[in-house]
Amino acid sequence: MSLDQVRAYFGFTKMPFGKSLPPSALYKSAGHQEAVARLSFLVSEQAIGVLTGEVGSGKSVAARAAVAGLGPSRHSVIYLANPAVGARGLYTEVVSRLGGEPRFHKAALIAQATSLLVAEASERGRAVTLLVDESHLLDSSQLEELRLLTSSEMDSASPFALVLVGQPSLRARLRLGSFAALDQRVTLRYALPPMSPEETAGYICHHLSQAGRKDTLFSDDAIARVHEAARGLPRAVNNLARRALVAACIEKASIVDDKAARSAVAEVSAD
Ligand SMILES: Nc1ncnc2c1ncn2[C@@H]1O[C@H](COP(=O)(O)OP(=O)(O)O)[C@@H](O)[C@H]1O
Ligand SMILES: [Mg+2]
Repeated sequence: MSLDQVRAYFGFTKMPFGKSLPPSALYKSAGHQEAVARLSFLVSEQAIGVLTGEVGSGKSVAARAAVAGLGPSRHSVIYLANPAVGARGLYTEVVSRLGGEPRFHKAALIAQATSLLVAEASERGRAVTLLVDESHLLDSSQLEELRLLTSSEMDSASPFALVLVGQPSLRARLRLGSFAALDQRVTLRYALPPMSPEETAGYICHHLSQAGRKDTLFSDDAIARVHEAARGLPRAVNNLARRALVAACIEKASIVDDKAARSAVAEVSAD
């Protein structure tokens, strides 16, 4: 059974529970809204913040949504999807993203990154936001690089907004002695919670209606089962909901009932 057959069977305009929702079409769970609001504040304050959450909880989606609306004339957003950026590290990345040709020697490279960051604000009038995703993977030298970049000599304020996004282990890691200087400057910490049962129901309806089905397609017990198995995490809900649709389609059922949801859960736990 192909996904396109499933799409046609249920009369979807596109397959629901996919990855690519534009920021304006995201489901506004309380946690998502809170994360976006706090990150937006952080950007406007040019401060340092940490957003944590479990795998698939919606961190990257929330972080992208928070910077999506920033106009390019007033803002420069540097988004590092993965901190595995090679031995020359974050400085090189920052310099290249701000249009520079990274210098070879480390001392020169640090000075170059710092002056490009400052120039972006002072000469071009753009506030810089450096968003590092998967930050729990940052190694010690990279955390040290970030600490140096955020502490300009002249000013106690950071010359840019820094958003570290990562799995829950990031918080504990930052508390370790060697990073205390960076940790002390973190003004915002937010742990993105999983969705509540009501939110998972709303989330499923939202995705279905984005795909053109505004009527009731999932039974209440199917939704409850998906919520429980996914523990309210959006990525897992997507995965289970899609499999439940396939199961219902195979059964030639008109709605996704608990039987279809149970078969989706069984498939996922067998993976
Ligand atoms: N607010 C939301 N609205 C719609 N879909 C969402 C939302 N949050 C997360 N998702 C879905 O869940 C998936 C996982 O989210 P993601 O931000 O990649 O998780 P994380 O970065 O925490 O691992 C996304 O691909 C998206 O499909
Ligand atoms: Mg992510």
